[in-house]
Amino acid sequence: MKKYSVLLSIFWSFALFAQQGGGMWIPTELNESEMKDMGMHISAKEIFNPKSASIKDAIAHFGGGCTSEVISPQGLLLTNHHCGYRQIQSHSTVEHNYLEEGYWAQDFENELPNPGLTATFIVDIKDVTAKILNGVSPDHTEQQRNDRIKDNIDIISANTVKESYQDVMVRPFYKGNKYYLFITETFKDVRLVGAPPSSIGKFGSDTDNWMWPRHTGDFSVFRIYADKNNRPAAYSKDNVPYTPKHYLPVNVGGIEEGDFTFVFGFPGMTDEYLPAAALEQLTQKLNPAKIKIRENALGIIDKYMKDDEKIKIQYASKYASVANYWKKWIGESQGLERSGAIEQRKAYEEEFMKRVKERCMVERSKECAIYPQLIPTLNNLYKEIEPYNYASDYFNEAIYRNAESFRIALTINNLIDKQNDADFPGYYKRVQGYLEGLYKNFNPSVDKEVALRLWEMYQEDMPAEFRPNDVHITEADLNNSIILNQLFTDVNQTMQNPKQFLALAQQDALAQKIGKVKDTYQTQVSNKKSSIQDQIDNQLRTYMQAQLEMMKDKKFFPDANSTLRVTYGKVKGYEPKDGVYYDYKTTLKGVQEKYKPGDYEFDVPQKLLDLYQDQDYGTYAQDGELPVNFIATNHTTGGNSGSPALDADGNLIGLNFDRVWEGTMSDYHYDPEISRNIMVDARYILFIIDKYADAQRLIKEMKLVDGKKQK
Ligand code: ARG
Ligand code: ASP
Repeated sequence: MKKYSVLLSIFWSFALFAQQGGGMWIPTELNESEMKDMGMHISAKEIFNPKSASIKDAIAHFGGGCTSEVISPQGLLLTNHHCGYRQIQSHSTVEHNYLEEGYWAQDFENELPNPGLTATFIVDIKDVTAKILNGVSPDHTEQQRNDRIKDNIDIISANTVKESYQDVMVRPFYKGNKYYLFITETFKDVRLVGAPPSSIGKFGSDTDNWMWPRHTGDFSVFRIYADKNNRPAAYSKDNVPYTPKHYLPVNVGGIEEGDFTFVFGFPGMTDEYLPAAALEQLTQKLNPAKIKIRENALGIIDKYMKDDEKIKIQYASKYASVANYWKKWIGESQGLERSGAIEQRKAYEEEFMKRVKERCMVERSKECAIYPQLIPTLNNLYKEIEPYNYASDYFNEAIYRNAESFRIALTINNLIDKQNDADFPGYYKRVQGYLEGLYKNFNPSVDKEVALRLWEMYQEDMPAEFRPNDVHITEADLNNSIILNQLFTDVNQTMQNPKQFLALAQQDALAQKIGKVKDTYQTQVSNKKSSIQDQIDNQLRTYMQAQLEMMKDKKFFPDANSTLRVTYGKVKGYEPKDGVYYDYKTTLKGVQEKYKPGDYEFDVPQKLLDLYQDQDYGTYAQDGELPVNFIATNHTTGGNSGSPALDADGNLIGLNFDRVWEGTMSDYHYDPEISRNIMVDARYILFIIDKYADAQRLIKEMKLVDGKKQK
């Protein structure tokens, strides 16, 4: 009890400054006075103003998963190297390997189109809670509630005034206690302009990923093209560089520890208000299972990549993305444990219960019939859902996510299931496109070994009641699958005739077996899980509402949901463990220190070493050193990659790309002492473009400012 109250007092002291407890804020609802107290010079209106140009007009959702920002009057777009990775890969061959060598378009003509890649700006944001919840009653079942909300969304979307080339979307916030509407503009012609070699853009690779101190030049450069009226348009050679309403000036004046900074972007998903029971399940049950599966898959892929150049290119992007969350989950579980997140969450729940009890001693409201039950009910529901969550993670990771032969078989089963649907032809076409893309980077030997290993694990770890006991997948099934083999030879030829293809698919033993695995999963796990999850969602929504009411001294921000947010903080080092302090910045000296000739993670181009030897840093050095990365207390998550880090005046000082190992649990529990975001210093980006790549035409487009002089 004593321990709890100490923790609790720590907890409450965080609440003093909103941002000290973390926070990803809706840009129309910023705490301007707090931001100014922390050092911001501009106004909230300069960050987001639907009526006139503001910083938000430079921020674009990149390909739906990352963030990017416009940094020139000609639509030059900056994002991470790992965000542009797939595009860089898609233009690469063994002869012209842009992943390895980098790519710099000499002129507009050589900027490379990327079918399917989009950049989305937010034009306006409106709170539409009242309209969306109109007609929703507490007596509704989840299903009825969802139906009603969906109808309201359709009506409101249809009635929203917007331009023909704009879109509308509505998203829930605060676990469905609030709804916001977004008017968006999506550009569809986004071309690759430049990328450093991976030895710079991915320096340190998976060893350094999620780690500090860091020395990665994780950036790539694209350009948005628009039609002659500056509007979104599908790719055409007649499109022209986009003229933005706003672009970010780049501050080359330098940064110091303690400087105010904010990050503006599209964080994907956080879950900051989960009960302790859910955090326990995550660290003890779910993360360990997922980590183990990926460890096995990665070990096999790695072995092949080391031996074969072609496989190395084919699997580079896949490997990085599987390894990325594998490593994150490890850090996250450790961080939750080390920061005492679960104990703190329990203490918080006790405080919540205490307040509810006090209130309800003198009150007889309907809340008082509900609030005291929330935590105990949630605890029970989490216990009930645990085996299903585990099974669902297992199915997703072992069958759906990490063995492509199984994924192909699942996809084919879906085709068979949908063959009589009205929208089948469109669906069939999409699957065809998807399989074509998949097979470009598929190696049957690699995948067979992964699939067999994961199948073995499925037998061992998936509880017997959740899998069919008469299905045995063997090496022969994978070798002899007509579908797998024919698709591998030629997707379009194989799928030319849907009737014939489906007839063949129905005969395929592998497809049949995976179909059974899926059916058992569907009936024994999936249905049950979603019905418990519905109840959990319902309780979490009420719990959120109750927290907002009962815990007024805590500042609540809505969980990330891939919508535009602002997070702010200060440039700051941290103490990862007793007696060790990590500085807020790194320099090119550290690249030289980590340099390992011939090593695929830590080799660097000779030219970079020469520039270091000659200290040829142009105007980009600070105190004689070339800055590379820095960290700050901004609360970021996946999706914030590529987000601009801005200074007190709204100039670009860095490019967000990662978080520090000890703080990766911030998706569930932000700890201001150790949660830090990692950024590439803007001057390192300029240095690479200017001095390394000799791409001065790009520097000339930008507006460089000395932030110190603006103060
Ligand atoms: N950890 C960063 C983020 O979650 C960077 C990932 C890319 N790098 C890598 N080595 N996989 O996306
Ligand atoms: N690296 C992440 C991204 O790609 C950012 C993070 O998780 O901190 O969005």
